[in-house]
Amino acid sequence: MDQGQRAPISWTSEGVPVSARFDDPYFSLGDGLAETRHVFLAGNGLPGRFRPGFHIAELGFGTGLNLLAALIAWRAAATPGPLRFTSFEAFPMAPADMEQALAAFPEAHAVAAPLLDAWAQGARRIETPDLVAEIVIGDARDTLPAWPGRADAWFLDGFAPAKNPELWAPGLMAQVAAHTAPGGTAATYTAAGHVRRALAEAGFTVERRPGFGRKRHMTVARRAPHD
Ligand SMILES: C[S@@+](CC[C@H](N)C(=O)[O-])C[C@H]1O[C@@H](n2cnc3c(N)ncnc32)[C@H](O)[C@@H]1O
Repeated sequence: MDQGQRAPISWTSEGVPVSARFDDPYFSLGDGLAETRHVFLAGNGLPGRFRPGFHIAELGFGTGLNLLAALIAWRAAATPGPLRFTSFEAFPMAPADMEQALAAFPEAHAVAAPLLDAWAQGARRIETPDLVAEIVIGDARDTLPAWPGRADAWFLDGFAPAKNPELWAPGLMAQVAAHTAPGGTAATYTAAGHVRRALAEAGFTVERRPGFGRKRHMTVARRAPHD
C-alpha cells in the first residue's frame, strides 16, 4: 500500500498543528470544529441535504476533523445507512499527531476511535454501520482523475491557495466538477478570485457567502441539477 510521505508537523502554543511543508495550520486558530460546521457543512447545505447513500468527498484529509464533524451531523440527522466519505491526501499525518490534534476537540475525539484505530494500523478504509470512508493516498492531481466516484458534496480544504496552489489549480477544479453528482455542491473557506474563477470555468454556479471568524467571505459552488 502506498503510505505517501509523512507530514512534518509543528504545534502552536494553543495546540493547533501546523504543516512544516506548507507553513500553514491544518484548521482555524480559533475553533476548528465550528469552522468546519460553518464552511463545509452549512456551506454544502448539510445536514439538510443528507439522504441514504449521501457521498462527501474532500481534498485534504489532514487530521480527519472534517470527517468526524460530518459523522456527528450524520448521526444527529439519523439518516438510515452509512455516510460515504472519500478524501484525497498526499501527506498522511503520523497517527500520534492525528491523535494529539483531535484530542483538542472532545466532541470529535469521542467518535474518533474507528479512525484512530484504522490509522494506527496503516489502514485507509473505515467501515462501521454508519460510515464507509476511504482515504486515497497520493497527489490529488493524479488520484482524483482515476477515481470512479461522484460526490454529492465536496469539502475543498487544501492549505491556503497562496501556499498550496496545486490543490486549487483549474485542472483539479475541473476534475472536482467531473466528479460531482448533478445538483451537487462544493464549499471552501477561501474566497480567492482565482479559485472562484476556476470553479466557474469548471461549470459550477459560484456564490460568495459570509466566512467564518475573521474571514469575511467563503465560497459555495453548485452543479446544475441535470447533466
Ligand atoms: C488544511 S489541511 C486539511 C485539513 C483537514 N480537512 C482536516 O479536517 O484536518 C490540507 C491538506 O491537504 C493536503 N494536501 C496538500 N497538497 C495536496 C495534494 N497535492 N494532494 C493531496 N493532498 C494534498 C495536506 O497534506 C493537508 O493534509
